[in-house]
Amino acid sequence: MGEHKRIGILTSGGDCAGLNAVIRAVTRRAVGTYNWEVVGIYRATQGLMSDPPQVMKLEPEKADAWLTLGGTVLGTTNKGNPFAFPMPDGTLRDRSEEIIAGYHQLGLDALIGIGGDGSLAILRKIALQGNLNFVAIPKTIDNDVGITERSIGFDTAVNIATEALDRLHFTAASHDRVMILEVMGRDAGHIAISAGIAGGANVILIPEIPYTLENVCRKIRERHEQGQSFSVVIVSEAVCTETGETVTVSDRFGECRLGGIGRYLADRISDGTGAETRVTVLGHTQRGAIPSPLDRLLASAFGVAAVDLIANEQYDQIVTWQNRQVVNVPILEAIGNYQAVDPKDTLVKTARGLGICLGD
Ligand code: F6P
Repeated sequence: MGEHKRIGILTSGGDCAGLNAVIRAVTRRAVGTYNWEVVGIYRATQGLMSDPPQVMKLEPEKADAWLTLGGTVLGTTNKGNPFAFPMPDGTLRDRSEEIIAGYHQLGLDALIGIGGDGSLAILRKIALQGNLNFVAIPKTIDNDVGITERSIGFDTAVNIATEALDRLHFTAASHDRVMILEVMGRDAGHIAISAGIAGGANVILIPEIPYTLENVCRKIRERHEQGQSFSVVIVSEAVCTETGETVTVSDRFGECRLGGIGRYLADRISDGTGAETRVTVLGHTQRGAIPSPLDRLLASAFGVAAVDLIANEQYDQIVTWQNRQVVNVPILEAIGNYQAVDPKDTLVKTARGLGICLGD
């Protein structure tokens, strides 16, 4: 069974459904199969920066209850780059060496990081700097990590957005309205194109395909002329205005986030069609959920495979999903190949084939 190991696991970046299912799978494989020890690190790299490091011992009996639990029991953060960490006095400090010290203080033989492309790039940089044994698992509702066909959390987010479209259809039809659903996805339109097809949207707008308001309004007017007095539109949060401006909202801390394209479209669609419009911004409901069966399967397969990589001492690798299998590739290959929607993608062709307007 090989030598005894002590491994750490952390979740980093925005949460999503399925993270706890990964933690469970890693624990079952590492403790159950290899008889290793597993420690869960709190709040991503922040748990390793603390002295002493903030951790929780993971046991299969405890982890078993986490298969269906949304969020992450370890906590996470998508702020505070450890190479420029904001300190209370307002300065930025490089805290990467403190993280490396935390790894050694815990006596870890390897670390598993579950993250998106941004946080995995940071974790990999720290691992290379400290010569740490690191294995990565991709997660993000945006599904934009390269190489892997799927990242944990994406399927659940698509299910939620699809269910929202189903609901909006009923109320749209009852009131003869145009309902606009704004979904997340950062710079990639994967959630919108998938949910848009699955949920029968009449218009799908994604950042990868430029649109004109006239094309969108024409589609809605045509439906009206054909006796369909309502329409449902799904739009990715990163879709720009017709003239190319990114639409954002800023909070009282001065932080600027994507948001507001749904409202922008609603006003222009009303002007261009005379229809009454309403906007739904789905927001974080896409992340905080019980994981779908597909996300649980993916989480289980990735968790087991990541532990097996450590058993084989294969590091600087990420587990990916390709052609119905888990395939490990160098982390750099995945994070260096940002995966937006390819306008020649099957789903784009499918949407066009169904007569869905993509705005172009
Ligand atoms: O990357 C995941 C994601 O949910 C994006 O789709 C979204 O733009 C962003 O995170 C929201 O981040 P926050 O939780 O900081 O509002």
